[in-house]
Amino acid sequence: MRTKKRTTQPSVLIPEADIERRIGELAAEIDRDYAESDRLIAIGILKGSVFFMTDLLKQLKVPVSVDFFQTSSYRDSTEAGEIRIRKDVDLSIRDADVLLIEDIVDTGYTLRTILSLLHFRGAKSVKLCALLDKAARREVEVTIDYRGFQIDDIFVVGYGLDYAELYRNLPYIGVFHAVED
Ligand code: IMP
Ligand code: MG
Repeated sequence: MRTKKRTTQPSVLIPEADIERRIGELAAEIDRDYAESDRLIAIGILKGSVFFMTDLLKQLKVPVSVDFFQTSSYRDSTEAGEIRIRKDVDLSIRDADVLLIEDIVDTGYTLRTILSLLHFRGAKSVKLCALLDKAARREVEVTIDYRGFQIDDIFVVGYGLDYAELYRNLPYIGVFHAVED
């Protein structure tokens, strides 16, 4: 048989129950902080944030609208951290309190771009809620107002995060190891 690289099923780094518990805590904090808000818009960054976002928003009691950005980095760009906006939000964010929802903050370039765009468009306030923080990889400073978990510099999948568009639907955060056989 030909030697071929394959992957095993990812092993559990953060179990489903821990994610669920942490989301409950974050939702309680967000509810408290936005109790007085006139217009709160939660904006998810596609596609990775979707699983986290829906679970989080279902726990919120404050009124909230939902919208999405989709971004990608230019693969052939010479400019480090140049971000392309593939899908813009539908709602006007002028004078709105915006809660950005992201799966993971890695270098920080995606968030830096989105945050400055939202400020430019006249949002009243912008806060960031990220499930995972890979702080060791940060190249530009980003303030994470609501953080699920800090993780080491390892590639993770599941609960929205993909490897080659797979594994997003795992109910936990996992790590996988390539094996030679
Ligand atoms: P940043 O602009 O480098 O912060 O990019 C963050 C984006 O990179 C995330 O929204 C993910 O799509 C992707 N990403 C970063 N680290 C991982 C990982 O460990 N697994 C899967 N996707 C990741
Ligand atoms: Mg992403």
